[in-house]
Amino acid sequence: MLSSTLELLETARRNVYAIGAFNVYNLEGVKAVVAAAEAQRSPAMLQLHPSALSFGGLPLVALCLEAARTSTVPIAVQLDHSTSEPDIRTALAAGMTSIMADGSPLPYEENLAFTTAMTELAHAQGTIVEAEIGRISGTEDGLTISEKSAKMTDPVQAAEFVRATGVDTLAVTIGNVHGEYRSEPRLDFPRLVAIRRAVDVPLVLHGASGLPAAMISQSIELGVCKFNVNTEVRQAYMHSLKQGICSVAIKDLVDSMAEAIAAMQAVVTEKLDLFGSIGKAHLHQTPYAAMMSARFN
Ligand code: 13P
Repeated sequence: MLSSTLELLETARRNVYAIGAFNVYNLEGVKAVVAAAEAQRSPAMLQLHPSALSFGGLPLVALCLEAARTSTVPIAVQLDHSTSEPDIRTALAAGMTSIMADGSPLPYEENLAFTTAMTELAHAQGTIVEAEIGRISGTEDGLTISEKSAKMTDPVQAAEFVRATGVDTLAVTIGNVHGEYRSEPRLDFPRLVAIRRAVDVPLVLHGASGLPAAMISQSIELGVCKFNVNTEVRQAYMHSLKQGICSVAIKDLVDSMAEAIAAMQAVVTEKLDLFGSIGKAHLHQTPYAAMMSARFN
């Protein structure tokens, strides 16, 4: 069932668990996420990074949306980290259920103006918007942000930003990084508490690959209700493909695709378990169209 991103996050928040949002690049990624969610009766999200969108284009978006529609569990589909108005327009026209308008690389005032404009555009089409203030460090799909230019989210600024832009969900930077953690992860939980007090929209944590279980649970208890996961799933895929190609036992391309799906599915299942969303599919039964007309009409 194609589901509203906002309904997934609000229900998860009310019931103190989180939604796993997994970056996908192709058929195998989509199958792995949907198969894991269905097997575990869990809601989940499929996310397309701008690099995946530019590589896979509308056929990849259509694949994600169709997989969500025909799934037996609630699945939402989001454009991740977009700084591009044309990409956001493409995502909206294609019917993705949410977009991340990511003005965080810009100076604050420009982030505010970009996010406000993209939120107006998205809301006019009944689509939900995630935004970010602060700036997360690390590497994702070739884009590297150094620790020096990373910036933690300021709670007072976060409140002002959410009020001024009208965004529906907020990604926070509290020590989380994209890609591998080079040293022991350290999250600033007092900052998360202060952000939670200042802001009433659902909170999102990027860079969930490599975060220990205790940090995930503490983040959920303190109000995070969506985690973004890319690196660990992508690594499982690449590792499995490399092994498959070198193995004499694998005879056919579809066999190595199936193995790669199984490897990614195992990682996704482990994350759904950590996020506490296993067995929660039945809590999210509002169809997408009904939810959107209640919010925007
Ligand atoms: P990781 O690659 O660290 O899991 O982060 C993914 C992410 O935040 C996507 O937006």
